[in-house]
Amino acid sequence: METILEVKNLAKSFDEKEVHRDVSFSLARGETLGLLGHSGTGKSVLLRSLIGLEHIDRGQIIYRNRRIDDLTETELFPVRTKISYSFQSGALFDSVSVFENIAYPLFEHTKLSEAEVARKVRELLRIVNLEDAEDLMPSDLSGGMQKRVGLARSMALDPDILLYDEPTAGLDPMNIEKVVDLINRCRERGFSGILVTHDIPVARRVCDRLVIINEGQVHFDGSVAEFNSSDDDFVKTFLLNERAV
Ligand SMILES: Nc1ncnc2c1ncn2[C@@H]1O[C@H](COP(=O)(O)OP(=O)(O)O)[C@@H](O)[C@H]1O
Ligand SMILES: [Mg+2]
Repeated sequence: METILEVKNLAKSFDEKEVHRDVSFSLARGETLGLLGHSGTGKSVLLRSLIGLEHIDRGQIIYRNRRIDDLTETELFPVRTKISYSFQSGALFDSVSVFENIAYPLFEHTKLSEAEVARKVRELLRIVNLEDAEDLMPSDLSGGMQKRVGLARSMALDPDILLYDEPTAGLDPMNIEKVVDLINRCRERGFSGILVTHDIPVARRVCDRLVIINEGQVHFDGSVAEFNSSDDDFVKTFLLNERAV
């Protein structure tokens, strides 16, 4: 299978604090990878590093056979349209409508006409099952709806890779189902994805493969079946502890 993104020997510290010592993994095209690890192990730092929101100290990030960890802000601009990060909170603009939130990257990064933008926004709203919400303001939406609008916006520029940071955290079971459905639909449409989550049942349902980070390194990298039947002590304890959360 073609590798679309590769992380090689990544190291990252903040002052004295070493977050990642030596992290390596790769993402195949069309695959959804679950990134697991206890709180504070650097999952969000890792996702942010992938799109240059954090500068790494050592190692390489390779997207489609090209290094992207050493790019300038200007050179990162097109990369960030292809590798799209949806923030933990949804991070919507509060003062404009759902429609305008999703239209924003299209007006900013493309030359589409207003009619074309409107068509695209409605298509994205259909994908996230929010076709009736375009005129609502973010404050009118539930947390789950805000996350789905955030996901719609992150898909606006037809990215190759979607990075999801805890997309089901804090949601009720019904909204978790909607986000799970949405991620699975993205997967069926051929997007590649990296999902950071604490929710192992969710990871099992949407991921092809799981990577567990511990103490700055990849402790486990394998299929969901391999994860479930692993007899590695750390993996077994991890499973028990996370299940109790
Ligand atoms: N900008 C920053 N400055 C200093 N320390 C940071 C910064 N961002 C994250 N950290 C630290 O890096 C570690 C990993 O954070 P994070 O990636 O948010 O963990 P996770 O998402 O796995 O819960 C934490 O100890 C956090 O305090
Ligand atoms: Mg985090």
